[in-house]
Amino acid sequence: MPIIKEQQTFMKGEWHGFFQNQAPITLELGCGKGEYTVGLAQRYPHRNFIGVDVKGHRFHKGAKDALQMGLQNVAFLRTRVEFIASYFAPDEVDEIWLTFSDPQPQDKVGVRRITSKYYADKYRQFLKTGGYIHIKHDNPEVYRLALLEFGDDPRYEIETHTFDVYGEYLTQQTSEWQDILQIRTYYEQMWLDEGRVTKYVRVRCL
Ligand SMILES: C[S@@+](CC[C@H](N)C(=O)[O-])C[C@H]1O[C@@H](n2cnc3c(N)ncnc32)[C@H](O)[C@@H]1O
Repeated sequence: MPIIKEQQTFMKGEWHGFFQNQAPITLELGCGKGEYTVGLAQRYPHRNFIGVDVKGHRFHKGAKDALQMGLQNVAFLRTRVEFIASYFAPDEVDEIWLTFSDPQPQDKVGVRRITSKYYADKYRQFLKTGGYIHIKHDNPEVYRLALLEFGDDPRYEIETHTFDVYGEYLTQQTSEWQDILQIRTYYEQMWLDEGRVTKYVRVRCL
């Protein structure tokens, strides 16, 4: 049986040095073309954003857009989420976005579902206490499992959630959240065009 060793990388603990500032760092895991990474970086020039995906050709678009816009607060990392804790030191990351991740609805344990509490427990190795995990998704089972798993564990607080972001929910939010939640990824737009509804869960790590 092949043995895959966790990869050690020279970037672990070095990301603030890379960005040449001490500003908060947000990750988008499974970023695809990187719409959230670039969209957030445009809106928050005094924070840093890293898009992560195993498929480098997908985030080539986001990287090209960031370069064309002259954004200095964006990076992309090609790796599998399974290895993510090898790339970040404790307390190095402030927030994580999981945007339309492969749903894996049959995976009740969560070992393949990167929105699961099983994965969140790994993210805690480098996510600050009080840091956020944002899950935006079309799949009702991903939404249901997130509410179930995080709602049951005192180490997590579900700060807000909605079955329909673009229903009444957005009108109830402050303009900051209204703005952020309306960033649309490639997959989100595809699912909206098919008539699916976008769901959102914001989890705070205690
Ligand atoms: C359904 S797409 C969503 C892409 C993007 N977030 C969006 O909303 O358009 C899922 C993405 O996650 C990536 N992905 C899936 N499993 C992964 C893993 N284990 N590690 C890293 N990336 C992964 C895929 O390459 C793909 O780009």
